[in-house]
This record gives sequence, C-alpha cells and structure tokens, in this order.
Amino acid sequence: MFHDSSVVRRSPRPDPIGGVEALLRRRADLLVIEEEQEGLVAGRVSGASHARRLRPAAEVSEACQEVAWDLRRRGLTGLLGRLGELRDQAERILRENPLLQARGALDVVRFRDSVPRHVINSRGERERRTGWGLHRRIRNDEGPSVVLAITRPGYRQLDHHHPVPEYTLVADSVIGAHWWDGRRRDSIATDGEILHFAANTTHALVNIGRRPGRTLTVKYPLGLKAWIPVFSGAGRAHGTARVLRPVARTVRRDRESAVFEIEDECHGYSIELIRLAAGAALRARRERDDYPFVLAGTVEASGRHGAVRAGRNDVLAIRAGMPHALRAGDAGARLYRVEIRR
Ligand SMILES: [Fe+2]
Repeated sequence: MFHDSSVVRRSPRPDPIGGVEALLRRRADLLVIEEEQEGLVAGRVSGASHARRLRPAAEVSEACQEVAWDLRRRGLTGLLGRLGELRDQAERILRENPLLQARGALDVVRFRDSVPRHVINSRGERERRTGWGLHRRIRNDEGPSVVLAITRPGYRQLDHHHPVPEYTLVADSVIGAHWWDGRRRDSIATDGEILHFAANTTHALVNIGRRPGRTLTVKYPLGLKAWIPVFSGAGRAHGTARVLRPVARTVRRDRESAVFEIEDECHGYSIELIRLAAGAALRARRERDDYPFVLAGTVEASGRHGAVRAGRNDVLAIRAGMPHALRAGDAGARLYRVEIRR
C-alpha cells in the first residue's frame, strides 16, 4: 500500500457562474479554428500555425477543468454539461497531429515547440500532456497515436476508466496504480515496465517516485476519445490489472533492445525500447513510416537527403522504405518505437 502526498488546493474562484459564461463566449473562436484544421495538409503546416491554433484550445481546456472543479465543490452541477461540451471542443483542436509539421522523408518534431496543455486533478495539480499520431493524418485520433504524460512526484490522476484495455509504459519514475476489483488494489511499475488495465477497470496513476515521471500510452481512436472520469466510489468499475515486462531482450556490446508485444481484442502492436551507447548507430529500413521517440540522450538521424538531430522528448518522422541511420550522441540515447500490426 502506498499513499499520495497531500497538496492543499487553492481557494475557489469568487464567481464560477460568471466564469462559465465568459468561457462559453469562446466557442465561436474555437469553431473557426476547427474549420481551419479541416484544410490542413501534411508537410505544409508550420510550427507557428500549429501553436497559434492549439494555444487558445489549451487555455480553454484548462479553464474549463478549473471552473468545473469549483462548480462541483459548490454543488452547482447544472452547468457542467455545457462546460464539458466546450472542453470536448477544445480537446478536438488539441488533437491536431504535430506530425503534420514533418517535411520530406526525414524530419523531427521538437517537444520544445509543442504547446503546453494540462489535465488538472481534484487538488488543482497539473499533469502535462502531449500526443502525436503514428501517421500523418490531421487529427491524432484518425489512427493509432501516442500520449505522453508528465507528472510531478505525488501527482494522482482522477479515478477513471476506458472502454478498451490500457497499456501504459513507465519511464523515469516509479508509478503506482490504484485499481479496483471489488476492493482497492495497488500495483507498482518502474522505468521500462508497462501497467496494463483490462477494459473498464477503474484506475488512477500516481507518481510515487522522487522525480518527475513520464508515461507513454499507445491509444487507438476509441481509447483516445473515451476517458470516463469517476467522481465517487459508487461509480467504480471492477476489473483486473497487471505489470508487463518485456517478452524479449537482446543485449549487444553497444546496444540493448527490449520488446513488448501487445495483442488483444482491440490492439495489435509491439513496443521496442532501444538503448544505444555513445556513438553507436542503428541502421534500418522500415516497411512502414516510423516515428521513434527520444526518451533520453540525443540522436542524429540521417538518410538519403540529409540529417536531423533529435533530443529528449522529440519525435522523428521517417518515411517507409528509406534506408537510414540513428546515431547516438555523446551521452548515448534511449528510444521508444511502436510498430502497429493492425
Ligand atoms: Fe487510464
């Protein structure tokens, strides 16, 4: 059993109803952004225009969450529906695929250019989220995508469940999970392990480590859109959870690889964690477009038409069929790759 750190929530806003009205006035602006997104073309989207569209959506999403917590605590639940719809609209905008910015056969989408957006829990603490499609369609939820969440020590998610199974890879920190099978259970995963929750199992992740933690979750479209919060114990759905370790490991002089196979009624993919020693190079030619994520260190990716450098939290975009090399920088590199089978 482990416990969350307790953090005192800041005082409520003086006028939550006025806050809702002000927020709802932003619907028209968001609608214009959604229409603009319909016309986006992969490879012709600039980082500046991506940020211009996502920034107001991130602001509205966060304000909706804060106001919703205030309303809930005051028992003013009548306006939550309209606030929820507005947040959904903002979240649709936030699912603009950052890989639309990738140009040519080899490029990098940098984390430092992404727009910060947050999920806010019942104590007012923030979890930074970002996501990218494992494809180059307009929205992340038009195919499989990855969600990266960054939390501070002590951060606890709101209890929630999804209609599909979830597999969350833990990086850096120690992540605990509360989940329910009739009574509360706790599981713990450390760096390089996956927390698996069966479909509809109510769960909440907690960063129980001493440093900020990252989790990476591959989401298929339904899993990305359907996130069902549970505000009271009565709404908890019972299920099962496990900690998964790699099914295969290879260790060579200058590199290591660990592979997870995810196969169930909803998913078919593998995850590979690759560790390269300083200066080590991985040469490959993939059958499908590849989007390696840099967990740590730096890599230089080179192909026929040039080279790009990528650092921590950056995503590379490499076209299918192109022979390329990923060479680790002086501090080595750690990469996360997903191969979708279906
Ligand atoms: Fe979840």
